[in-house]
Amino acid sequence: MKLEFGGKVALIVGGARGIGFAGAKELCEAGAKVAIADIDGKAASTAAEKLTATGAQSIGIQVDISSLESVKSMVAKAEKELGAPDIVVITAAIVDDKLFVESGPEDWKRMIDICLYGPLNVLHVVLPGMIEREYGRIVCLATDSARVGQARLSYYAAAKAGVIALVKSVAQEVGRNGITLNVISPGATNTELRQTREAAMQEQIGQEKYEARVQKVLRMYPLRRIGEPEDHASMIAFLTSDRASWITGQVISVNGGFVMP
Ligand SMILES: NC(=O)c1ccc[n+]([C@@H]2O[C@H](COP(=O)([O-])OP(=O)(O)OC[C@H]3O[C@@H](n4cnc5c(N)ncnc54)[C@H](O)[C@@H]3O)[C@@H](O)[C@H]2O)c1
Repeated sequence: MKLEFGGKVALIVGGARGIGFAGAKELCEAGAKVAIADIDGKAASTAAEKLTATGAQSIGIQVDISSLESVKSMVAKAEKELGAPDIVVITAAIVDDKLFVESGPEDWKRMIDICLYGPLNVLHVVLPGMIEREYGRIVCLATDSARVGQARLSYYAAAKAGVIALVKSVAQEVGRNGITLNVISPGATNTELRQTREAAMQEQIGQEKYEARVQKVLRMYPLRRIGEPEDHASMIAFLTSDRASWITGQVISVNGGFVMP
């Protein structure tokens, strides 16, 4: 199945690295013009340069997804330089590895500001234009921990569960305007987000215990490997293509079979 994005404008929020960048690359290769927005503006520009070096049209934009004003200027810049976004993918997130009883209001606030207010801000800014143009493809990244729970990830999981509910509800409101919204729910995937958490774990429990843990985790995955960003990029491309025009409000786990909710 060949997916075509010729002439389409995509905005990847949190796209400087990891799953977002893999998605940006996939969309560019299929002909989309891609704005890469990230809190790390320099990394966003470097990521965009990598794509333009392949002949694609791409720009980097600095944004803090937790600020509505910053999100407004991100969308204005993308529109001015590439055109109004037809496709928006929200991957920006942070993760905290903490027992709930050891966490506090400052941890929860930071998490909810980025992982729940972030998508609220982006959807609120991009939807009016999409409604007017009668077209939009939106994908938000959640996590399987929001679907089945996960120790040490309680408030991250809670924020992401909010994103799932948001996407399902808004999908019901704007389907009549030719807009689809879906969620990709990843299992463990080999990106900096995971690598940082794993490095801290290794430091905490020591090499021998850590290696045993790695094997235990792999046994939890029927496909016996953790994910790569490209595993999600194919799903991002499919869900944002016109081949997925009758799919909305869905949560699709891309997770090697880790859970089957
Ligand atoms: N990697 C995994 O194992 C895994 C598992 C489940 C879910 N996810 C989800 O997938 C998505 C992508 O994760 P990833 O692994 O590629 O992460 P990553 O950390 O590699 O990339 C996330 C990007 O978001 C950016 N970002 C962070 N805070 C931001 C902010 N306030 N404003 C704008 N950008 C910001 C970071 O700079 C980074 O470039 C996230 O939503 C994450 O929750 C990842």
